[in-house]
Amino acid sequence: MRKKFVAGNWKMYCGDPAKAVELAKGVVASVGSQAAVEAAVCPPATALAAVVTACAGSQVGVGGQNLYPKDEGAFTGELSAPFLKALGCRYVILGHSERRTYFKEDDAFINLKVKAALTADLVPIFCCGETEQEREQGITEKVVEAQVRGGLAGLDVEQLGKVVVAYEPVWAIGTGKNATPEDAQAVHAFIRGLLGSLASASVAESIRIQYGGSVKPDNAATLLSQKDIDGALVGGASLKADSFAAIIQAAGG
Ligand code: PGA
Repeated sequence: MRKKFVAGNWKMYCGDPAKAVELAKGVVASVGSQAAVEAAVCPPATALAAVVTACAGSQVGVGGQNLYPKDEGAFTGELSAPFLKALGCRYVILGHSERRTYFKEDDAFINLKVKAALTADLVPIFCCGETEQEREQGITEKVVEAQVRGGLAGLDVEQLGKVVVAYEPVWAIGTGKNATPEDAQAVHAFIRGLLGSLASASVAESIRIQYGGSVKPDNAATLLSQKDIDGALVGGASLKADSFAAIIQAAGG
């Protein structure tokens, strides 16, 4: 039985530590002591330390939004996996479509990041998903397969078992459009099958596959009731404690 996992991707919002702590405390208060759903927030780097402190001792974990795949060195402006770990992060979002698009991250580079995260004992939230044009061309599975094979290349079965996958159709991110529960389920099932061939059927059964892209309190329950949708990666709706809490609640239903 996979435990549902809902993570908030704050993107480049709420970077002021005081504001971030206010939001984090709101999330902690709403989540309370419920442990049926795993919950996490991923604030900007400037607010990570403060949010880790605000979430300490609660059911809300904290994650980074990116890392550079070297432990340390002359890489001005970058953060390493051990740095995130030392701050108290449990997770890190990798391969988000915004990073793939705006920062030209390719599968090979994302793969190095996934490996660096695992080495530092961080849980990678590995994102994949097709663009609108790719969906219209009917190549969604081909695109997602290449991203998964490339991004998770070289991981052994044990490492694969530690990864969280987030399927985020690019056309649904921040647009208010979202995949129908049936369409999303079909891609999730495809990804699980693929993970089965990379690892084993039983490991694939244990891997959480989140859906992301305009998840809101009013669509979360139907999306999350699908067999292979094991949670959500939430952008916009994670910036308000009550809407994020409502999504977590829907995941628990
Ligand atoms: P959204 O973002 O919920 O605002 O669409 C999701 C994401 O980018 O992870």
